[in-house]
Formats: sequence, C-alpha cells, structure tokens
Amino acid sequence: FERMALKRGLFVVIEGADGTGKSTQVLNLTKRLQSEGYPCSSMRFPDRSTQIGGMIDSYLQCKSNLSDESVHLLFSANRWELKNQITNTLASGTSIICDRYAFSGVAYTSSKPGFSLCWCMGPDRGLPKPDLVLYLHASEKLAQSRSNYGTERYEKREFQNKVAEMFEEIRAVDKTLTWTDYTVERGIDEVTDDLFGILQKELNSNLVKEVGKLWM
Ligand code: TMP
Ligand code: MG
Repeated sequence: FERMALKRGLFVVIEGADGTGKSTQVLNLTKRLQSEGYPCSSMRFPDRSTQIGGMIDSYLQCKSNLSDESVHLLFSANRWELKNQITNTLASGTSIICDRYAFSGVAYTSSKPGFSLCWCMGPDRGLPKPDLVLYLHASEKLAQSRSNYGTERYEKREFQNKVAEMFEEIRAVDKTLTWTDYTVERGIDEVTDDLFGILQKELNSNLVKEVGKLWM
C-alpha cells in the first residue's frame, strides 16, 4: 500500500491594470473553489493590514510622499513579509488566489521615467513562483466606470496604458511562467465561471513538484 504524496496547493495570481475587477474575481473564485471542495484562501498585494502596508496605503491615497525607489522596495518588502504564509499555506494543500503580485510591482514602477525592468525585478527575485498568472484585460470605458476609479495614485489613463505595455514586456522576460489572458466582457458571475473553468484543469493535476522561485 503506497501512500500518496500530499498534493500541495496551487498558487494563482490575478493581474491586470486598475479597474479590471480583479478583487471581485479573487473573492468570488476563492468562494467558488471552496464550495467545489478545493481548499483555498485568498491574498492580496499590497496587503495594507501590516505596518509596511500602512505606509503603502497612505502613499496610494496621496496622504504621504515617498521616493519612487523607496515605495518600490516597500511593495516588495510587503510580499517578502508574507512569504512564509504563502509557502506554508501551499504546503498544507491549500491553494492561494492572489490579487496582484510582483508583476504589478515591476509594471507600475517601470512605468515611471528612469526605471529599468532589471532594477525593478531585483527585489522580488526568489519569491514563491506562481503556477499560473491570470491576466485580466478590460476596455478603458469599463475600467473607468468603476465607482471609485480615479481616487488613488496611478489611476490615470496615460499611466494605465503604460502599465499595460509594461505587463507585456514583463511576461516576455520569463517564458517559464504560465500566463493566461482573459478579456472581461461578460457579467461578474459569468467571468467567475470562465476563470474557474481555466483553473479546474490545473487544480486536478497532481502538483507534487515544489513551489519554484520567481525570476531565478
Ligand atoms: P490595489 O488597487 O489592487 O489595492 O493596488 C493598489 C495600487 O498599487 C495599484 O495602483 C497598483 C499599485 N501597485 C504597485 O505600484 N506596486 C505593487 O507591487 C503592487 C502590488 C501594486
Ligand atoms: Mg485600486
């Protein structure tokens, strides 16, 4: 009688520009996975609940100013402070659906003048590597129709266009990552159904390989 190796959780990151509905989908997908019997929890970056997250929150709401370099490092530190939580959760067999990750970190800072992709990627090298990145696209009109769009730093059209360009560059750098594009054109529940369908195949595969290290 051979004991089956414990299947680890799947690490899924949802990325996209502001206003694509990522947060809603992360929450709905997590509930959907749980209800279908897959242990699952959600995370988000920035995680504004920590001390570092509080500094980031204040910066995003334009209540404080930080140099572009230092806020970039804070965003990265916010991921590193939750690294053990990520690896422990996955090891226990629970999947993670994560709202933004290092790809946002690099896309947003490298959209500012004078920042190279290489410099921006540095601090996040070695973080737990996602098994799948779901990249949500939405029309500008849809993004801007979101009730609170435009209230935070970065929520401006030209900047968002640059961010979208940078996401394309970032994915081209590392071909070992699996990116899946999805264009948000349907209602919230239909989108959740579609995304769940994309994840199902991966969830049913026997994930015994260890979690990788990002960009290493
Ligand atoms: P949120 O709206 O998903 O809470 O994200 C807040 C903003 O922070 C959003 O405009 C994207 C930006 N961001 C970065 O600039 N760097 C990062 O590392 C992350 C995770 C988000
Ligand atoms: Mg936002």
